[in-house]
Amino acid sequence: MGYREVYEAAAADPETFWIAAAEDVDWDRAPSRALFAENAPLYEWYSDGLLNGCWNAVDRHVEAGHGDRVAIIHDSPVTGTIHRITYAELQDRVARLAGALAARGVGKGDRVVIYMPMVPEALEAMLACARLGAIHSVVFGGFAAHELAVRIDDATPKAIIAASCGIEPGRVVHYKPLLDGAIEAAKHKPDFCVIFQREQEVAALTPGRDLDWHEFQHGVAPADCVPVEGNHPAYVLYTSGTTGQPKGVVRPTAGHLVALNWTMKNLYDVEPGEVFWAASDVGWVVGHSYICYAPLVYGCTTVVFEGKPVGTPDAGTFWRVISDHDVKCLFTAPTAFRAIKREDPEGRLIGKYDLSGFRSLFLAGERADPATIEWAADKLRVPVIDHWWQTETGWCIAGNPLGIEALPVKLGSPAVPMPGWDVQILDEGGHPLPAGQLGAIAVKLPLPPGTLPTLWNAEARFRKSYLEHFPGYYETGDAGYRDEDGYLYIMARTDDVINVAGHRLSTGAMEEVLASHPDVAECAVIGAADPLKGQVPVGFLCLNAGVNKPHEEIVAGCVKLVRDQIGPVAAFKQAIVVDRLPKTRSGKILRGTMVKIADGEEFKTPATIDDPAILDEIGTALKRLGYPMS
Ligand code: COA
Ligand code: AMP
Repeated sequence: MGYREVYEAAAADPETFWIAAAEDVDWDRAPSRALFAENAPLYEWYSDGLLNGCWNAVDRHVEAGHGDRVAIIHDSPVTGTIHRITYAELQDRVARLAGALAARGVGKGDRVVIYMPMVPEALEAMLACARLGAIHSVVFGGFAAHELAVRIDDATPKAIIAASCGIEPGRVVHYKPLLDGAIEAAKHKPDFCVIFQREQEVAALTPGRDLDWHEFQHGVAPADCVPVEGNHPAYVLYTSGTTGQPKGVVRPTAGHLVALNWTMKNLYDVEPGEVFWAASDVGWVVGHSYICYAPLVYGCTTVVFEGKPVGTPDAGTFWRVISDHDVKCLFTAPTAFRAIKREDPEGRLIGKYDLSGFRSLFLAGERADPATIEWAADKLRVPVIDHWWQTETGWCIAGNPLGIEALPVKLGSPAVPMPGWDVQILDEGGHPLPAGQLGAIAVKLPLPPGTLPTLWNAEARFRKSYLEHFPGYYETGDAGYRDEDGYLYIMARTDDVINVAGHRLSTGAMEEVLASHPDVAECAVIGAADPLKGQVPVGFLCLNAGVNKPHEEIVAGCVKLVRDQIGPVAAFKQAIVVDRLPKTRSGKILRGTMVKIADGEEFKTPATIDDPAILDEIGTALKRLGYPMS
C-alpha cells in the first residue's frame, strides 16, 4: 500500500488501524479496544490494556535473544569517551536502579524529576521509572534553578535524579548547585535525591537527602516490570506556553509506545538492530521519543551524543559519528546543519568519512529553510526529510513516510499528514480554508495515540489552550497553509512561543523576568530572524521615570537576570531601551509588527495603532542592533 491508501485506511477505520499497530508491542493484557471517547473532547487510547514501557524498550529484546545487541552508544566528544551498553546490560542496570528507587518508596504514579546531561544514565533513570510505573519528568540542563524549581513545584516529585555536572564546550555546568538552589526555592521538597557523580566534577552531597547513584544501588534486589494501564502517564514533560508557567504535557504509556514503534519503520524506515541517532537532548521531546523510547522499543541501537555539531572538535563530528557507528538515520534540528554549513560551506569534512551506510536525514523542531535542506541533500546525497511535530504530539504530525512510500520532497514543506492526523487550515471563525490560503493549523479530534490527553494538574488550561478556540479541533498554535497536493507549509506561531536553535521558548516568560527588574516599567520580547538559530529573542525596555543609569548597565543587568532565571538556553543577549512601545489604542503591544520591522518584512501600519511614529523609533533602535539581518 502507498501513503494515500494507508492514510485513508486509518481515517476510515481508526479502530482497526490502531489495534493492528498495538499488536507490535507487548501487553500483559491486551486492550479491549483502541479509542476511549467517553470523556470527549478528552480522548484516551488503549485505556484498559496493561503493559510496561521498560519491558517493551528493554526486557522483551533480551527475552527474544537479542541481549548481546548494543542498545545504547554513548559518544561523548566533550569527555573524549565512547561506551556501548548491550540490551542485557541495560536490563541489569535499569532493574537495579529501579530496585533501589523502589526500596526508597518510589512506586507507580510517583513522580521523579530527572536533571541530567547526555549520559546513558539519563535514559536508565527514565527507564527505571517506567519499570516501576513511576512518572518521570526530565528537565533540560540548560534551564536555570528557578525553572527547575517551577517544575519541581508542579510535578511534586518523590525523588530527583541528577548528575553532578554537565559539560558544555569550554565550561562545566554545575548541576548540583543549580539543583540545591532549585530545591531551596521550591515549596515542594523531594524525599531524596540521587546524584550521579561524574569524574569531571564530584559534587558534595547533602547529608540526609542526597544519595550516591552507585552506593544506593548496592545490595538491592532488582525490580521487575510493573504492568500499568494503557492511559497511565509515562511522563510529564514541561514545555513553553504563553506565560512563565510551563505546560506539563502528559504522555500516556500505551499510546506513546504503539505510535513510536509504528513510526520507526513507516516513517524513518529503519529495521531492528540498525543504528538510529537523534542528535537532540533528553530534556526535549525529541530526546524522549527518539533518543530513548522509540529506537529501544523497536530494538534499534540508539546514540546518546554528548557534543555539538561544531566545535567538538569540528564541523565533521556528525560525519565521524555516522561513520564510526554505522548510523542509518539521523534526526536533528536544521540549526545544527546551519552551524555546520557556516563552518564548512563546501562540506569538505564529509569526504573524510565513510558515509556509505547512511540512508536518511530527518529535520524537525523549527522551520527547515530550503537553503539548508538543499545544502544537506547536495552534500550527503540522501533524502533530507523535514517533518513537523510538537512536544504535545510526541511524534510527527506531518512528514514524508519513507517506510511506506518516499513522496516527492517539496522544499519548505514537511510534506503530508501522517495516518491518524486530520489536519485542517481554519479561518478565525473555525471554517476550513481552501488550498493556498493561510490560516490557523488545527487537527480534528480525536488526536491519534501517543498525543497528550491533558496537561498535568491543569485540565482547564488544557481545554483553554488547545480545545476551546476551535471546538472539535486541537489548536496547534502554528499557522500555515496547504497546497493543491495536500502538502503542508508551517509558517509561524500564532502565540508568544519562539524557536531559538530548535529550542522552544516563551517570550511571555522572558517578559515576566524583565518586568521584575527594578528599573523596568514595561517591556516586550520578540523573536527576530537569525541566520544561525532561526530566531533569537530581542528585548525592548521602557524604564521607570527618574532612572538615569547608563542604558548599557541596565541591558547587561536584564541579560543576566534572564540567564539566571530562565537559563543560558534562552539565548537572551540583546535588549534595547526605548521610550515607548507600539500599542493599539486598547493597549495591546504590537509584537507582530515589531517582528516584521526586525525581519525587514513589509508591513501595514495597524489601523488601531495608538501612535504610528513609534514604529520609526523601533526601527531605528533595531538598526542599531544590526536588524534586519541579511
Ligand atoms: N546544559 C547547559 N547549558 C546548555 C545546554 C545544556 N544541556 N545546552 C545549551 N546550553 C547553553 C549553551 O552552552 C549556550 O550557553 P552560552 O550562552 O554560555 O554560550 C546557551 O545555552 C545557548 O545554547 P544553544 O542555543 O544551543 O547555542 P550554542 O551557541 O551553544 O550552539 C548550535 C548553537 C546551533 C550549535 C546548537 O544550538 C545546536 O546544536 N542545536 C541543535 C538543536 C537541537 O538539538 N535542538 C533540539 C530539538 S530537535
Ligand atoms: P517543540 O514543542 O519544542 O517540539 O516545538 C514545536 C514547535 O516547533 C511547533 O509548534 C512549530 O512551531 C515548530 N516546529 C517543529 N517542527 C517544525 C517543522 N518541521 N517546520 C516548522 N516548524 C516546526
